[in-house]
Amino acid sequence: MCGIVGAVAQRNVVPILMEGLRRLEYRGYDSAGVAIIDRNHCLARTRSVGKVRDLEARLDAQMDGVTGIAHTRWATHGRPATENAHPHVCRKTVALVHNGIIENHEALRKEQLKLGYEFTSETDTEVVVHEIYRRLEETGDLLAAVRAALPALRGAYALGVITNHEPNRLVAARRGSPLVIGIGIGEHFIASDVAALLPVTQRFVFLEEGDIADITRDAVTIYNAQGERVERPVKQSELSSDAVARGEYRHYMLKEIYEQPRAIADTLENRIGLHHVYDEAFGHGAPAIFESVEAVQIVACGTSYHAGLIGKYWLEGLAGIPCSVEVASEFRYRKPQVARHTLFVTLSQSGETADTLAALAHAQELGFAHTLSICNVPESSLVRGSQLTLMTQAGPEIGVASTKAFTTQLVALLLLVAVLGRRRGLGSDGEARIVGLLRTLPGLVEQVLALDADVQAWVPFFANKQHALFLGRGTQYPVAMEGALKLKEISYIHAEAYPAGELKHGPLALVDADMPVVAVAPNNELLEKLQSNLQEVRARGGELFVFADADNGIREETQTHVIVVPPTNDLLAPIIYTVLLQLLAYHVAVSKGADIDQPRNLAKSVTVE
Ligand code: M6R
Repeated sequence: MCGIVGAVAQRNVVPILMEGLRRLEYRGYDSAGVAIIDRNHCLARTRSVGKVRDLEARLDAQMDGVTGIAHTRWATHGRPATENAHPHVCRKTVALVHNGIIENHEALRKEQLKLGYEFTSETDTEVVVHEIYRRLEETGDLLAAVRAALPALRGAYALGVITNHEPNRLVAARRGSPLVIGIGIGEHFIASDVAALLPVTQRFVFLEEGDIADITRDAVTIYNAQGERVERPVKQSELSSDAVARGEYRHYMLKEIYEQPRAIADTLENRIGLHHVYDEAFGHGAPAIFESVEAVQIVACGTSYHAGLIGKYWLEGLAGIPCSVEVASEFRYRKPQVARHTLFVTLSQSGETADTLAALAHAQELGFAHTLSICNVPESSLVRGSQLTLMTQAGPEIGVASTKAFTTQLVALLLLVAVLGRRRGLGSDGEARIVGLLRTLPGLVEQVLALDADVQAWVPFFANKQHALFLGRGTQYPVAMEGALKLKEISYIHAEAYPAGELKHGPLALVDADMPVVAVAPNNELLEKLQSNLQEVRARGGELFVFADADNGIREETQTHVIVVPPTNDLLAPIIYTVLLQLLAYHVAVSKGADIDQPRNLAKSVTVE
């Protein structure tokens, strides 16, 4: 949930660390800090509450050192406050940044208090820096000290540690939280993700669970969980440094909404032939696995979970395969009955969501036949832990509100429907129809983006409201859920989604002139039923905002506003209508002056439970 970055170089590392923090800010932004070993071999540290720009404002322009670490925080233990910001320091000698949670911090704190260590924060992290200092006193060697300290920790961590006793050394370790090493020429770096280091390198080593790395300017030496020296492959990143730039867009979220035609086209590239989907797109061994699959279990969180819910309609309705969907934080603690030959599918933008990773580990223990992850980040923990993978090609998603990751997940799910359905009665005609429709999708999304100004015109009806209802039926019900999540997440308007048929069972009581009701109403077999539900709202003085096909009979009149959506095949409608709900949430939040890309209390990847 936090972002960490570190560097050992010949040049001043402060600008590298600050740029890294700016790029990691999506992981947490309630406080930030930097520590370096300065040219006099003293530890210097600056911390600040707020965003990286607040830290920057406090930074001494003279701060200069060749070894350093930095951190941007999303508070777990201890409120956002300067004293809780990282790096944490022990006795002016050891400085440390941490991403993760130390579960046994209270027991360690008690023990360390007895030994005379002074605590200056409320965090779980501070025990780690004291533990390492304690071992440094015994061993006189930073690597040995980190190695000796780690067995005492229970929980998850990615760590970067420096000491002024060894001014040109950085020790890093990971268990349960991501960490990459950037390989430079005569300089090396660490970070929570690749994007943080793209301005300085495109060559990366991905640490594995339990690895410890000893990093100097000239060498990177890695030890595995058993303490054996190991070689990890150096990978070349395809990302360019400006892949994470905002360009001419006012916010990342808007840029990412507008990138969807490209992201969808890239997700389809090399995955579809003229009439069918290539099994191989899912990885080595996929065809044999698909032959054996009799059921699908999907697990995910947040927006990715909503994609899974739509996937269930498709997998059961088109591919004829039983499918269950569950949020990861529930699944991981349940003891489900595992049906034989069930494919366990995780959906995740980041591939680092702690609950989803734990659910995958749980599924492996429970004996699910096979695992597949649909993910946007290559080399993420989820991808590395799954048997099959299908990478969405959305490119880096920086805005906390997920947009292009969602629509590309839906595309990936349609590819899965095709390969599984082909083996279960969908037939080659059915598969060819899906492929043909997918080809039209980037163009359709372009057309729908052209409705942006119409969506903006609705903003005044929402901007001063406290609540909103979102309605849909069938695959549009999860679309409504996603629309409601987007609105509440970035505009802080309370929004709920209901399957429209449920309205009369309770929520109708809430409807009045102050409760805008948004409906997603493509022309499908449930349209008539939805129209009746909308009449129920109108009859109670509710104001309707409807996204609908031209020929669906819902007209603009008093209390009813309609945006006419280009005609869309029902299969693609969840993707098309979601784009409009993304735009609605975005413009309402902008009008409220909200922090679009970094909404309060949230972080992009939720790497803690
Ligand atoms: O990286 P993941 O897809 O696993 O993340 C899951 C959720 O945390 C994420 O979708 C979250 O709900 C988004 N911020 C919603 O916009």
